[in-house]
Amino acid sequence: MIAVTIASTKGGVGKTTLTANFAAFLADLGQKVLMIDADPQPTLSSYFPLRLTAEGGLVQLMLDATANGVISQTEIEGLDLIYSNDPEGKLWDWIRDAVDGRVRLKHLLQRPAFANYDFIFIDTQGAVGPLQDAAVAAADLLLSPIPPELLSAREFVRGTVAMLDRLRPMAYLGAPIGPLRGVIYRKDRTTDARRIVEELRSESYLPSKGSITILDTVIPASVVYREAATFKTPVHRLQVKRRGNAPSALEILQALTAELFPHLRKPMAERAALRTEGI
Ligand SMILES: Nc1ncnc2c1ncn2[C@@H]1O[C@H](COP(=O)(O)OP(=O)(O)OP(=O)(O)O)[C@@H](O)[C@H]1O
Ligand SMILES: [Mg+2]
Repeated sequence: MIAVTIASTKGGVGKTTLTANFAAFLADLGQKVLMIDADPQPTLSSYFPLRLTAEGGLVQLMLDATANGVISQTEIEGLDLIYSNDPEGKLWDWIRDAVDGRVRLKHLLQRPAFANYDFIFIDTQGAVGPLQDAAVAAADLLLSPIPPELLSAREFVRGTVAMLDRLRPMAYLGAPIGPLRGVIYRKDRTTDARRIVEELRSESYLPSKGSITILDTVIPASVVYREAATFKTPVHRLQVKRRGNAPSALEILQALTAELFPHLRKPMAERAALRTEGI
């Protein structure tokens, strides 16, 4: 099982869109995937229709430390969800005050109920706080969408380095902070992603050398992401074919998967060979 937390110290950068679409893509690839919505504003929770709605969600998982009755099923085969049910943000205080607050999620995910999953994707809110800390501590890998503007990119490095450095002592609690992969996200035709990537790479030799790297895969700005959200459908199902020179949403998710999870290259190639229409 690989736990991936989508985190950013900035709001509105595309965390939820990336979480939902990446998780759904991996599920369509035959992986067993669980999404956990760790944002009090529960956008991910209603991103896809549910075929089975569990009685409880994140609050029961965290407060009762139980995996029973908290896992809902989306209509996408192999894609489950623990929904967010904490509109008043009670978890924030609870995690801050409980002795095991920030490491509880990590330890809960080791339970047998989660052993069948290949991936667990945790979406977070774009603000620093105890719930984000708990989600970051639970991750084997952190993924961070970065808006492709130099100022945002610099801010990302500063904010994220600060977050990682602040959380580093969690290693003493058995929760070492995983490596972080930045993905240039929502690039439009006018942005020069290459310059921004160079800038980011040159900045990341600061205190956390090696722990932050920027992926080669770049996710473009495209209305298809909004359309997919409106139709409650994974974006790779909506845009299979490339448009002129621009790679399709399917191809971008394949590239992202190949870069982050090389062990899935073979199943992807096999699927592509099986169906000419992509996955
Ligand atoms: N690749 C994309 N191209 C264009 N628009 C996008 C893309 N990805 C996401 N969006 C749009 O950007 C907006 C913000 O995306 P999203 O909700 O995923 O961000 P977020 O980081 O989860 O925000 P928050 O911090 O509020 O949780 C949404 O309206 C979404 O439809
Ligand atoms: Mg969000």
